[in-house]
Amino acid sequence: MRRAKKIGLLLLVIFIAIQFLQPARNKSGQVMPTDISRTVPVSPAVSALLKTGCYDCHSNNTNYPWYATVQPIGWIVNGHIQKGKAELNFSEFGSYTIRRQKSKLKSIANQVNDNSMPLASYTFIHKNAKLSKEDKALIIDWATQTNEAISTKQ
Ligand code: HEC
Repeated sequence: MRRAKKIGLLLLVIFIAIQFLQPARNKSGQVMPTDISRTVPVSPAVSALLKTGCYDCHSNNTNYPWYATVQPIGWIVNGHIQKGKAELNFSEFGSYTIRRQKSKLKSIANQVNDNSMPLASYTFIHKNAKLSKEDKALIIDWATQTNEAISTKQ
């Protein structure tokens, strides 16, 4: 019993200590000139879907839930953001080479088509980010058409 108490106390101390290790926030607070909406045509409907479903992990502006201030949850959230942004950053889409833009658009259509994105752990909590069949079709058509439009421009 005494041992269990000691371990409990130790865990509590560790839990409190890690609260001071907050990851830096992903919030530029502005729409960059390289944002995808300023690079290629994005309809308001598609833009709204991307903002609700993808921008938290794939842009320079995350809308943080309150529990992201609690560690280690904040570290997990931060890990998703860092990894997601490294793969695809909608805020910096305009700085990508044409080749990369096209491959990302193709990847967006694929990931949405096979339900890999948004991440299931995300839609489990953010119910409004769940994509309906119609939402998915909108994003896939947009990504496919935009990809084709870019190739004819070349
Ligand atoms: C909770 C965070 C999160 C959300 C929300 C999210 N993603 Fe992702 N995304 C990631 C992470 C992390 C990766 C890196 C690969 C992995 O771990 O699966 C990724 C990878 C990708 C890739 C692969 C890029 C490549 O080069 O192959 C695409 C495309 C993508 N996401 C599109 C989207 C789209 C479109 C949405 C919205 C409909 C979305 N994601 C929502 C976190 C997220």
